[in-house]
Amino acid sequence: TSSVPDLTQKLDKLKLEVPPQIEGSFPASNTTDLCRNYIANNLSKLANVDANIAFQALEWSIVLGNGDLVVPLPRLRLKGNLDELAQKIAAEFPLGGYLEKVVPKGKFLQFFFNTQFLLNYVTKDVLTRTSDYGSAPVGANKKVIVEFSSPNIAKPFHAGHLRSTIIGGFLANLHEKLGWKVIRMNYLGDWGKQFGVLAVGFDKYGSEAELKADPINHLFKVYVKINEDMTSEKEAAEKAGIELPADATDNQARAFFKKMEDGDEHALGLWKRFRELSIEKYIDTYARLNIKYDVYSGESQVSNEVMQKVTETLEEKKLIKVDRGAKLVDFKDFKEKKLGKVLVEKSDGTSLYVTRDLGAATERKSMYNFDKMIYVIASQQDLHVKQFFKILELMGNDWVKSQMVHVNFGMVLGMSTRKGTVVFLDDILEQVKNEMLGIMKKNPDKFSQVEDPEKIADLVGISAVMIQDMQSKRINNYEFGWERMLSSEGDTGPYLQYAHSRLRSIERNCNVPESELLKADLSIENLVGSEDQLKKLDLSEEEYSKKLDQLKNQTEKVQGLIRIITSYPDTLKYASKNYEPSTIVTYLFKLTHQFSSTYKILRVMGEEREVLVARLALFSAVRQILNNGLKLLGITPVDRM
Ligand code: ARG
Repeated sequence: TSSVPDLTQKLDKLKLEVPPQIEGSFPASNTTDLCRNYIANNLSKLANVDANIAFQALEWSIVLGNGDLVVPLPRLRLKGNLDELAQKIAAEFPLGGYLEKVVPKGKFLQFFFNTQFLLNYVTKDVLTRTSDYGSAPVGANKKVIVEFSSPNIAKPFHAGHLRSTIIGGFLANLHEKLGWKVIRMNYLGDWGKQFGVLAVGFDKYGSEAELKADPINHLFKVYVKINEDMTSEKEAAEKAGIELPADATDNQARAFFKKMEDGDEHALGLWKRFRELSIEKYIDTYARLNIKYDVYSGESQVSNEVMQKVTETLEEKKLIKVDRGAKLVDFKDFKEKKLGKVLVEKSDGTSLYVTRDLGAATERKSMYNFDKMIYVIASQQDLHVKQFFKILELMGNDWVKSQMVHVNFGMVLGMSTRKGTVVFLDDILEQVKNEMLGIMKKNPDKFSQVEDPEKIADLVGISAVMIQDMQSKRINNYEFGWERMLSSEGDTGPYLQYAHSRLRSIERNCNVPESELLKADLSIENLVGSEDQLKKLDLSEEEYSKKLDQLKNQTEKVQGLIRIITSYPDTLKYASKNYEPSTIVTYLFKLTHQFSSTYKILRVMGEEREVLVARLALFSAVRQILNNGLKLLGITPVDRM
């Protein structure tokens, strides 16, 4: 869809030439980039600077009155009187049909896009490319692993996992849209002494039938009970002032895990069943969030060979010290005092969380030869991640610095179901669905028209949770608020869903065939009218000035709206640099707010056919982008609610 011949055709129709393409820009799929190419090439000639430098100097302006793109001339590294130069360049700048004007402001040059060009060109671009609009082959031929969610089997799926799931799912979609080959990976916490604990617990409290019926909850129940036993055993021993007896649960658990690490078949068989049944259940739950993993990996999956290699390299590179039989890395020795010390092998020879991460990363590099690997892990583990990235680097992996990315995030406060504090993903999703259903039932008329209310409540409820999570910078903590996130007023998931279904209903009511929409006359005169048209009407002075005001307001709204539509591809590119879902969420709110205020004064139904079709084309483009944006976030847009 974004090949150059295609661009030639599109531009031919507008009597524009294809500009020389600056590396790293995507003029065929991003109209702002197209304009940047034109401007940079002309600027390069007029100011005698390198076109790449000119391109880099083009900044978005935030206020419409200051132009769409701005160049601070100092950024072009020019000498002499820059104010004068700005005047001169502005006077000579060829507008080329895509610019309305170029205005000098001190040392700045302001470039104003031609609104009519954007209306004609971008609206059709959206309506023809549909779900592809926004994408660009930024990551063509490149591979990225996104590791996210990564819950621990037999332990609660807590808020940290929920956030990792939501943010990671988005980042995977985003990279896919930008042309990367994406591998979605879940790195389960499926190894460690807790499995010994679980095994002992299952022996004592487990039930085969319950395990089959609901593995995640059952294993968790067992885990809680056996942990209670361990606590009381420990207390008893302390009270009596003795060591834990050899047959204490804790010691049995340790012994069991040791057997697992040594490859004991019986021990591994039990563990494998726990793991497989849990994954089966996870697959269904993630599907509700539109997430499908390519790989269920996990701490257990790192091969012994790789682990051995890691240990060897650590020794070879003299990275470890031995302390009472245990091995550790002391970062002080490598001028990284802040990172403290970290244990990499216990005295009984068993591995640790950090060691398994070292092995997993090494193994993935050789298995997938990725160009980038993203870890979506809570900021509570910042130190852990810094430590293992650093050790990997010290081991001689020069790709770590440029290819490994830690996308961190803050905490969710007060997340609990209304019944209690233990949280599983499924419980949260069930509860949010029921709450939403309750809200929908408050409007019985509308409710009776919804075809599958359970399904809609599920989708809208999930979007509430997801938008709440992604609407501010990910590093921020936030308070989990049922009422707030489910409200259809204010910036919430239901609000975006409501806007989408409203746009859908406008489309349904107008029922204009796609071929006609694509031929819409998007001239400003047709969309909102013109002064000339007003003059021809026989209006009283008062009425005329009222109509003129209206015309101005409508024009301004349309100008704003088409610019937001145009900036969607840039928004994706930006989000891929800062790894912030909030970049997309903020954009979608801006889009829907501008749509509602435009729609309020620019009606569709009841207008003459030509006008109706043009306005509908514009709003359909909004609907398409809202649809694309929601899906990108991992949300299923609803058509009615
Ligand atoms: N299972 C871990 C936890 O729940 C998260 C794993 C994050 N990924 C990693 N490569 N360490 O804390």
